[in-house]
Amino acid sequence: MNSTRERWASKLGFMLAAMGSAVGLGNIWRFSYVAGENGGGAFLILYLASILIVGIPLLLVEVSIGRKAKSDVVGSFQTLAPKKPWYLAGFLGVFGALLILGFYSVIAGWSMYYFWNYLTGQFFTVPEQGYGAAFEIFTTSTAQPLMWHAIFMVLTITIVLTGVKKGIELANKIFMPALAVLLIILTVFSLSLDGAMEGMRFLFQPDWSVLGNPSVYIAALGQAFFSLSLGVGAMMTYGSYLSDHHKLPGATVGIGLMDTFFAVISGIVIFPAVFAFGIEPDSGPVLVFITLPDIFSQMPFGGFVGILFFLSLTLAAVSSSVSLLEVPVAYLMRVAKWSRKRASIFTGMVIFILGIGASLGMGAWAGFTPIGQHNIMDSMDYIASNVFLPLVGLVMALFAGWHFSKKEALTAADLGHHPVGNWWYILVKYFAPVIIVIIFLNTLGIL
Ligand code: PHE
Repeated sequence: MNSTRERWASKLGFMLAAMGSAVGLGNIWRFSYVAGENGGGAFLILYLASILIVGIPLLLVEVSIGRKAKSDVVGSFQTLAPKKPWYLAGFLGVFGALLILGFYSVIAGWSMYYFWNYLTGQFFTVPEQGYGAAFEIFTTSTAQPLMWHAIFMVLTITIVLTGVKKGIELANKIFMPALAVLLIILTVFSLSLDGAMEGMRFLFQPDWSVLGNPSVYIAALGQAFFSLSLGVGAMMTYGSYLSDHHKLPGATVGIGLMDTFFAVISGIVIFPAVFAFGIEPDSGPVLVFITLPDIFSQMPFGGFVGILFFLSLTLAAVSSSVSLLEVPVAYLMRVAKWSRKRASIFTGMVIFILGIGASLGMGAWAGFTPIGQHNIMDSMDYIASNVFLPLVGLVMALFAGWHFSKKEALTAADLGHHPVGNWWYILVKYFAPVIIVIIFLNTLGIL
């Protein structure tokens, strides 16, 4: 059965695709607004700690389970633990992927709309009503955001149905280096602004008092999972297209570092600019869409910078959304025996429909606020990122730590003869699960 399964053309292809999955709206749009809302520097430290202690070790767990089982997120658990209930976590993963892509594609659609407006020169100068009102008018309307959401989903579906090698892998080989170059150009622009230092202090000088607030911890953990694409089986599915001889530990550390680099560098692009122009860092999810255009409009070559920025944001979003779509697609291809094309189009349509709720929640359905978040989109994001991802991550850690024997776990992760193997095992078996549980209990107010 496995002989016909698709494979990456090379280890580099896998690395680029996994980095493409990790680096996305999460690093630029989500990281900057969550860091801004949670106090900056102290949040950054908790976030970095979550990446190091929980994120990267679990990334290795996810990829190694996928490579060992060579199946999708449900099938991998079933293959490695037949007739045991572990696979139920796989369904949570598939569900989480649908939920995330449901709102992710809406934001990505906004990003495409902005790119289009810069490309056509419309946003080169401040619109009559200002960028804030222009954003508001656009996002609260019904048809336009849905149209961009649809265009973005068509793009994602097209790449996924082209197949692992020719579609996802090739797309990432082009997008990732382009994105890195674009962001570095923007960093130079942002740091040259008057008052940039205040933004740097906000990002790098921790205000420890925010640590008294339990919600900061779950925000940091959720952001780490979201950013590393953990807990939905995206990395597991990507790992399943790897051959056994490709070594994992170095690859996962590389992916984790690259992802962190993109988040920190986006922070260095955004916060100095936010402070230089006297904007509140806790403006929320709109930070990127309202404040940055304002900033671009006052910078030399700002229109050009706007084109580059929203192009890079869109490219980063596409390479992540294909990995999210791949989770349910791989599952359906195996279980329903559907062709890649059929599975991609069907799932993509389901996600488009889910996204309608997220999009209309900004306008026509704005009054509907399930679970007490601002709107439908925030609710989808909160449940997926702060509940589903850490929960599935917890199960994966327990699977590697307690279902596998120590030898099996170390061999699956290519750490059998490596000095850090023991440390990794202890982190995965005890440390990560305990930390995730403590943060959960803390958030629920039980601890
Ligand atoms: N990591 C992606 C980002 O930062 C989002 C994502 C989450 C992708 C979960 C796959 C799985 O934008």
